Amino acid sequence: MSPFYCCLAVVLSLALALASASPAAASISVSAAAERPEPPSNRVSPTEQFLRAHNEARAAVGVPPLSWNATIELDALRYASELRASCEARPLWAWGTDGVYGRNLYKGNGARVRAGADASAYWAEGARWYDRDGAGAGSGSCAAPPGRSCGEYTQMVWRATTQIGCARRLCRCLSDTCPEEMDTVAVCEYYPPGNIVGQRPY
Ligand SMILES: *[C@@H]1O[C@H](CO)[C@@H](O)[C@H](O)[C@H]1NC(C)=O
Repeated sequence: MSPFYCCLAVVLSLALALASASPAAASISVSAAAERPEPPSNRVSPTEQFLRAHNEARAAVGVPPLSWNATIELDALRYASELRASCEARPLWAWGTDGVYGRNLYKGNGARVRAGADASAYWAEGARWYDRDGAGAGSGSCAAPPGRSCGEYTQMVWRATTQIGCARRLCRCLSDTCPEEMDTVAVCEYYPPGNIVGQRPY
């Protein structure tokens, strides 16, 4: 049994113990503990979710794994905190590290427990449409359906990229259905940046 599981159980029993003593305090503790009823398969940290999915996509095309960088993660967290206000996966205007890092954006419906895995899986779908050997100005070709692109995928598997930092945030509450229907935004940043025109990712 993992330590996390053990501690959740402790919080729950503490809450139950409080229930007999003070009903008001107990209801607060119980709802806090019940907020994240993660089944065993979901007990992977967001960092691990992002990193694993990226490195699986890279391994699939024979590209070395990425390592996590906390400095980049902090920038991604700041970026995600800005996206949180409008709750849209749309690039911000003139961000300080534009051009320094590559960047992938994601918005998921609902408060995704597995936002790191979901975002990475969404970006990795580009593999289905990307043709490395296609004639696309030296960068391969992309047959993505409307509204989708291969660019997030090609950044994920860009060989010269060695480090990432990613973050996800719950959106600011924009309706009266919160907190049940709060959405999630996620950002990954890549160094050195990929998607250089005229080059192939791998
Ligand atoms: C992490 O990224 C920062 C900013 O790009 C860089 O200065 C630093 O050297 C990196 N850390 C490591 C351990 O590579």
